[in-house]
Amino acid sequence: MKFKSDTFKGLTLLSSREIEAMRPACRLSSELLDYLAPMVKPGISTLELNDAAEEWTQQHGAISAPLGYPGAEGAMDFPRSICTSVNEVVCHGIPSKKEILQEGDIINIDVTPFYQGYHGDSSRTFLVGEVEPETRRLVEVTERALWVGIEAVKIGGRVGDIGAAIQEYAEGEGFSVVRDFVGHGVHRTFHAEPQIPHYGVRGKGKKIRPGMVFTIEPMLNEGTYEVNLLDDQWTAITQDGQLSAQFEHTLAVTKSGVEVLTKMPVPVMA
Ligand code: MF3
Ligand code: CO
Ligand code: CO
Repeated sequence: MKFKSDTFKGLTLLSSREIEAMRPACRLSSELLDYLAPMVKPGISTLELNDAAEEWTQQHGAISAPLGYPGAEGAMDFPRSICTSVNEVVCHGIPSKKEILQEGDIINIDVTPFYQGYHGDSSRTFLVGEVEPETRRLVEVTERALWVGIEAVKIGGRVGDIGAAIQEYAEGEGFSVVRDFVGHGVHRTFHAEPQIPHYGVRGKGKKIRPGMVFTIEPMLNEGTYEVNLLDDQWTAITQDGQLSAQFEHTLAVTKSGVEVLTKMPVPVMA
């Protein structure tokens, strides 16, 4: 199938048929996270989670978009199928056989199946067994921060409204917002314009229009928002070693509202 997308000042605006065509990929990302969730237990390695995700993705006829994703100049391509970011890892953690989850850890799992020509990009942070109350609060506030951002998406509003809302909420709860990684347009291309910072100023940035499809994926830190990159050129960690959490959805702006494509409706039938 070929649908014609519109572009406006270099941004891709998807037709309603293209948004329909993106749904299956987005549904797979939600279902994949649901599938992995019960495996997040003390004793499992992040490589086992990766391998389960890769197998599930293949069985569903999809491709893991992170696998082989081009690295920055001189860096390796991303070597695994999902990102697993444990504790002080902010994002882009690389699954490893040697990394075993322990009671009290938190882990963000970020998945991006590519299916029927489109990407579905979503992540959640999971608690490993019992965690400290303050750790749980970080994770809960981060999930809420994503929804605060989603609620700030208004046609005719600006991208800066999203970041401002997230930043105000997160900082009001005593956490900091990572600056170095942003949400992004996502469709046939994994990472497209516009960039969606999770901090900022209301009324600034690109105008929000029907047909825009992008992620919001705030990373909140307990301490400083500053991050360091490990020698692998992928793993981003907090500069102070304190915890970081993240949640991500892919959403579509339509005339009838903002639709969260990577969240499935809750069944209403008994
Ligand atoms: N899924 C991540 C995002 O939210 C990107 C991962 S790129 C990878 O944008 F190469 F690290 F996989
Ligand atoms: Co993303
Ligand atoms: Co992602």
